[in-house]
Amino acid sequence: MSNVPNLGDGQEKMTVPELVQRKTLAADSPNKKKITCLTAYDYPTARLLDEAGVEVVLVGDSLAMVMLGQDSTLALTLDESLHHTKSVRRGVKRALVVADMPYGSYHGELPRAVDNALRYMKEAGAEAVKVEGGERRLELITRLTEAEIPVMGHVGLTPQSVNALGGYRVQGKTPGAAEQLLRDARAVEAGGAFAVVLEAIPRELAAEITATLRIPTIGIGAGPDCDGQILVLHDLLGLTFGEPPKFARRYADLGRIISEAAREYCSDVQSGRFPADRESYHLPAGVKVRKTISIAR
Ligand code: KIV
Repeated sequence: MSNVPNLGDGQEKMTVPELVQRKTLAADSPNKKKITCLTAYDYPTARLLDEAGVEVVLVGDSLAMVMLGQDSTLALTLDESLHHTKSVRRGVKRALVVADMPYGSYHGELPRAVDNALRYMKEAGAEAVKVEGGERRLELITRLTEAEIPVMGHVGLTPQSVNALGGYRVQGKTPGAAEQLLRDARAVEAGGAFAVVLEAIPRELAAEITATLRIPTIGIGAGPDCDGQILVLHDLLGLTFGEPPKFARRYADLGRIISEAAREYCSDVQSGRFPADRESYHLPAGVKVRKTISIAR
């Protein structure tokens, strides 16, 4: 019997303890399901994902690239991220809402990082925050969890380190790098994080980390053996420009659908097919438009 609040229609609200507990279930338990996560950045998509049963909605800092047209995630500001987290919050009833802390919002003094994280909880209604980095974030993750802020870690390819890494490359491919990644994942767990994202690492290493940790691993480009999976929504929907990453799967081509709809609209407006009479208002019966309008001087 789960302690998770029931929203009255048979569906349960996803919570941090429920997520962690999923990992401890026996393999043959009917509730032993992979954790489903997607990114969202606005009210309508967050609502659709929630209603579709997505269990964790991450307001990823990928927002900078897929919604705001930036070249990397680095330019995203705390205010921009908070603004989008608020709109996602309004669309979600059941999923766990996790906010991705932007580059620079947790890289300096720890008290300031904690204050910034608290803004997500108090102002935007997030239920957890995500921070990138492993061993070097141990103290930060400890401080955040001490402040009752649930933390999701993120190791492997950490896009906020793109300049230090020299590009978006698969991580953990040498024995030394793989060991460092295992240490990073352990540090995230030791700090008190409730889950960790593993991004762009060999599936064998992700399987090893998943078997070693007590907290769930959420993979993105980390193979099928993680406890859950996440994708950037725009990759899944075909709403990105350019080559998608190898690990992304396109489930719909909304880019094409939007372009076709916009072209059809332009053609209908220019040819007079839109608006039609059924899309127009009428005067009530008996009311006539006066043909001459006298202008008072
Ligand atoms: O910003 C993001 O969307 C992310 C996920 C891809 C994990 O960090």
